[in-house]
Amino acid sequence: MDTVDIIVKKRDGGKLDDEEIRYMIMRYTKGDIPDYQMSAFLMAVYFKGMDKGETTVLTDVMKRSGDVVDLSCINGIKVDKHSTGGVGDKTTLIAGPLAASCGVPVAKMSGRGLGFTGGTIDKLESIPGFKVSVERENFIEQVNTKGIAIIGQTGHIAPADKKIYALRDVTGTVENFSLITSSIMSKKLASGSDAILLDVKCGSGAFMKTQKDAEKLASMMVDIGNMSGKKTMAVITDMDQPLGRAVGNAMEVKEAIQVLKGQGEHDITELSVYLAGIMIYLGQKAATVEAGIKMAFHALRNGRGLKKFKDLITAQGGVLDIIDNTDLLPSAGVSLDFKAYDDGYINKIDAMRIGIASQHTGAGRFTKDDDIDFAAGIYFYKKTGAEVKRGEVICSVYGNDVKKVKKALEEIKSAVKITREKPEQRKLIKKIVR
Ligand code: URA
Repeated sequence: MDTVDIIVKKRDGGKLDDEEIRYMIMRYTKGDIPDYQMSAFLMAVYFKGMDKGETTVLTDVMKRSGDVVDLSCINGIKVDKHSTGGVGDKTTLIAGPLAASCGVPVAKMSGRGLGFTGGTIDKLESIPGFKVSVERENFIEQVNTKGIAIIGQTGHIAPADKKIYALRDVTGTVENFSLITSSIMSKKLASGSDAILLDVKCGSGAFMKTQKDAEKLASMMVDIGNMSGKKTMAVITDMDQPLGRAVGNAMEVKEAIQVLKGQGEHDITELSVYLAGIMIYLGQKAATVEAGIKMAFHALRNGRGLKKFKDLITAQGGVLDIIDNTDLLPSAGVSLDFKAYDDGYINKIDAMRIGIASQHTGAGRFTKDDDIDFAAGIYFYKKTGAEVKRGEVICSVYGNDVKKVKKALEEIKSAVKITREKPEQRKLIKKIVR
């Protein structure tokens, strides 16, 4: 088999056979194919696409490139939840404990932030003492006794994706249906859960800008999950403006606690309860999605979700006092306000630009080796649709380096648009794909 022949075949729109796909992925992962050839291959896939059969094989090869975790010693139906990436998306911190408190074992391996999107593991690490690396036996024991564990993904899960994603990130080949599907599903299928819930984002802060594209991606991932024997569902949700009020690690943990206390913003509360409801349904603790949502809502109201979040923090060594004293979370030394430049309504808060602004504060990384400032981020007092008067504070920007905070403020200026007319409200939860 010849690498150049395979690149040329895809470049010219050909369908690759199973062996050709396996050859490219496995040899690249081992280091036998150089980055420049893999880059050309990825660009060919980006332009010519892959059909369902090719995408299924690609996913399977990437899944088998590393460990395939066996979680069969955890009792019950383990349900994983994955978001395709968002800004201010702290739903795992809320939906996970809510679902676990309703009897669904949550054995979750999460990722760090990618580009302008945040990651659950960075958020959890902002809790003083919280450990995200846990030995396999302890992970299993924790889920069996506490019902929930959230740990960082190890390098042994789908190492092919790790290497290919890093290359896609710097070669303009991220936004392709087959490449995103295989990247996400290879990790999910290797992580050992029995069922998978995908939160597929659409809008300015998502890889998929339109609902049509998000639905296409969701269907591809749901089909591959179900064909692999894992019951898989997806929800299409809006990511045109940041979710909730906080963007940035410690601030998002604080907001998650508020939601679990029943004091959260409507959007983040609604979506978290909805996702938890589907997890409860997939975990067969409710006969329908609607019944699952009711159970999740009840767990929020009666404090069982908050209690489960506390169990999670304690089990993984975090300081529990943050629940009642969020001042114990990292706090920023610098803050600057972004004020309305006119009277009117907030017409747009561009989620991607806010994600980039949040990276500038230090809350995200620009290169994989950057350190995170857990205290940094942005807090919105006003969201899209709100009426504002000139000079009123729309958001505050936090960090520990005044230059970075100022740079973030500049980015925010181009993200927020004020108009005289009130904009139409976008629907947050758009569709379920099953
Ligand atoms: N998240 C992933 O893990 N992979 C992608 O390709 C896109 C988002």
